[in-house]
Formats: sequence, C-alpha cells, structure tokens
Amino acid sequence: MGWDDAFANRLVERDLTIGVIGLGYVGLPTALGFHDVGFRVRGVDVSQRVIDSLSAGENPGDDPNHDDLIPQSQNHRWQISINSEDFVSQCDVVVVTVPTPVTKQRLPDLSFVLAAGKAVFSSISPNSGTIVVLESTVYPGVTREIWPPLIEQAGLVEGVDVHLAYCPERFVPGDEEHGVRQVPRVVGASSEGVGKDLRDLYATLTSGGVTFVGGIEIAEAAKVVENVQRDLNIALVNELSRIFPSMGIDVEEVLDAAATKWNFHRYRPGVGVGGHCIPVDPYYLIKKAKDAGAPVDLITSAREVNSSMPANVALDVAEILKNSEIEISGSNALLLGWSYKPGIGDPRETPAEPLAQALVGMGCNVQAFDPLVDELLFPKNLANLVRNQSEIQPFDIAILVTAHDEVIGLDWEKLSDIANHPIIYDGRRVLDVSSLKSLGWLVYLLGAPI
Ligand SMILES: NC(=O)c1ccc[n+]([C@@H]2O[C@H](COP(=O)([O-])OP(=O)(O)OC[C@H]3O[C@@H](n4cnc5c(N)ncnc54)[C@H](O)[C@@H]3O)[C@@H](O)[C@H]2O)c1
Repeated sequence: MGWDDAFANRLVERDLTIGVIGLGYVGLPTALGFHDVGFRVRGVDVSQRVIDSLSAGENPGDDPNHDDLIPQSQNHRWQISINSEDFVSQCDVVVVTVPTPVTKQRLPDLSFVLAAGKAVFSSISPNSGTIVVLESTVYPGVTREIWPPLIEQAGLVEGVDVHLAYCPERFVPGDEEHGVRQVPRVVGASSEGVGKDLRDLYATLTSGGVTFVGGIEIAEAAKVVENVQRDLNIALVNELSRIFPSMGIDVEEVLDAAATKWNFHRYRPGVGVGGHCIPVDPYYLIKKAKDAGAPVDLITSAREVNSSMPANVALDVAEILKNSEIEISGSNALLLGWSYKPGIGDPRETPAEPLAQALVGMGCNVQAFDPLVDELLFPKNLANLVRNQSEIQPFDIAILVTAHDEVIGLDWEKLSDIANHPIIYDGRRVLDVSSLKSLGWLVYLLGAPI
C-alpha cells in the first residue's frame, strides 16, 4: 500500500491529526470544522488571550457561531497551545491561517507567514511526509518563495519529509450561507498525489466542493484575483457615485435602470471598502506585478478610487453643513456604524476610521454609535464610542456608515429630538427616505446631488 492509499484509508477512518496555526477569523472555524467531522485537531496561536479563552472553552472572537466551544480538558481530539513545537510533530497536515496585512507603505507584510513557517518546519520530523498548507491570502509565488529556504534550514527535504500546498479561504464573515463548512475550495499542491489527498480532506470540511487546480501558484493567484475583481467592480460604482451627482443625476436611479439589462452586475456605491481582504489583497498583486514589470494600472486606480471614498464623504458633509449655515469647525458628527460591514464587530480597515480622521481634520467632534464593534480595536483618541441610542450626545449631522440592523432600526424620531440639526447623510443608501423626511429629517444620499 502506497503513501496515498494510507492517507486515503486514514482519512476514511478519521485517523488523521490536523494542526491549525493561527486561530483567528479563519483558523478557528477551520479547526472547529475539522474537529466536528471527526479528526484530531491541534490548534496553535501566539496570542495568550486567544489561548486563555479557548482553554476556558470561551469564544475568543465575535462570531456567535463559536459560542459553543469545547473545553480543552474534556476532549482528546481538541488540544490547543501557544507553541507550534508542542504539536506539529503529531500532525499529518498542518494548515497555516496567519494574517497577511500590508505595511504602512501598502506593501505585503509576510512576516507572520515567515514566522509561522519557521516554527512549523523546525518541528517536523524527517520522513514524516507532513503536508503543510498555506491558507492565508498571498500573491502568486509566496508559498514557493519563502518557505523552501526554511525547509532547507530545518534540514528537511521538500517532497520527502514535507509537502507544500495552498488552499485559500474564501468564507465571508457574518454570512451563514458562506461559512467554512459551505464554500467551494480550490487546492494547489506540489504534486498531484498531495493535491488529491487534500481535495478529499477538505471535502470532509465543506459541502461546497473542492477542486484540485494544479500548481500552488494557480490557487494563490485565483484567491487574490477574486478579491481584485470585487474591488474593481465596487470602484466602478464608487466612481459613478462621484460622476452622476455632478450632472444632477442620482447614481442609484442610473444603476437601477441599467440593472434591468440581463447581464448588468449591480453593485452599490458606499462610504468605502473595509475588512481584511478587499482593501488589502490587491496590494499583493500590485507589488508582484510591478516586480515582474507587468502593467497594473487598472487595479491600482481601483484601489485609489475606493480608498478616496471616506475623504469624498467628508467633503460632502462639509458642503451640507455649509449649505445649512453650520460652521464645520466645532460641529458634532455622529457616525452610525463603525465596523466595516453589517452584522459583525470587525473594524479592520473600516472606512469609518479615515472618514472620522478627515472630519476631525476639519475641526469636527466625532462620536460613533456601534453596538457590535470590538471595543478593544476602537480608536478612542479619534472618536467617542456609543453602544446604546440613549447615550448618543447632541449632533449636527448623522452619517450612516455601516448598515447594521441596529442602525437601520434606531428610533429615528427620538434621534431627531436629540439632534441640534436633524440632518442625515445615508452613506449606504439603505434608509427609508420618505419616512425620515416625514419625521423632519433633512436627508442627503451618497451618489445623489446635494
Ligand atoms: N477574515 C476573513 O474574512 C478572511 C477571509 C478569507 C481569507 N482571509 C485570510 O486569512 C488569513 C487569516 O486571516 P484572519 O482574518 O483569520 O486573521 P486574524 O487576525 O483573525 O487571525 C490570525 C491569528 O493568527 C495568530 N497568529 C499570528 N502569527 C502567528 C504565528 N506565527 N503562529 C500562530 N498564530 C499566529 C494571531 O494571533 C491571530 O489570532 C489572512 O491571510 C486573510 O487575508 C481572511
């Protein structure tokens, strides 16, 4: 019986140990998913806070799907540690789900992938044939560029002691229909045998189907292209939201009309694009394309359009206040929603932050109402965070940034009572304009003439 047959048999018996390195938004549901389908799981995270929470059987994050965690002491199939060394040698497959942010200069920061790789490869036993899978989003080439030197340093031989693969995560936080147990996956691997083994392994995790796409670089490129495409599509409607109001036209009416055509893709303009993926991943491809001497102007422009949206909204706010004869310096702005998308508390790369910075730069005081946002990640020096409607202080303009249910469902009558000026700017085009007007609100809409 060959290595592939042995892996296949152990897969059927659920007699495999899966290591997950990095237990954040991606790693934790992945680890729990592999545990739930019957594998032994060994989770590692360098954060003491994450390990302490998980050790106590508590949810370290804000995804309510993980509230029902298994205390470590009660389950031999579920163990966690702060040290990769404790577990990696026990693992048949090690999945790496660490952050891949950008630096202040908007360049790929691969330090987490490097550190995780170093710790993993130094703990792999010779001849073990351990499969190490990178799931973090990267540019094409990263897995093969930065890990092989570490494998060599660890005295291991790739293809013998260790095998490399890439399987990007595509799940959507806060979207129950597109979680790690549902999304389709692609796998790229150093050999067909490893690719097929991983295809079968991931098929136990997700009902969405798993495709072995061949080389590692194909899977790496596919992931980054998926997010580049979304950034481009959103940038187009965001640019249109600046063009049409200058002609006295409401962009939403134009998009509604265009969307009656069968092959028009309807996107919605907004205050900006946030989160860990769409505003970050294009910079990975931009860097790699520039290094390769390839043109990358369209992708670069799309990024610029989307990142300029918060500043554009701040300019709209300044114009609206001026029209209402309110001095912007010393005025009070209320941001409705802070996290980067509705229904979750994640504020990473939220457009609310550059919007608040632009408003503060114009002399505004800013308070933000967001019952969901992770308080630890809220910049208290920039704005005041308010959790309940009753705590909202008088304001001159409210700006809807995140369409949380809790924002849309505010008591708008009471909110107008506490406003110095009941002016609202809907930055997501989600509010019922006529009912707000009937309550006395002066309503402005992103993408509509001011
Ligand atoms: N969050 C998403 O919606 C999403 C979706 C698809 C893909 N991704 C990609 O997945 C990757 C992980 O993203 P995330 O959102 O889960 O990040 P995260 O910050 O939520 O979690 C990463 C975890 O890794 C831990 N960590 C950092 N370095 C480590 C190391 N050397 N060893 C062990 N643990 C380490 C951190 O403490 C953290 O808990 C990124 O590349 C991201 O782009 C994220």
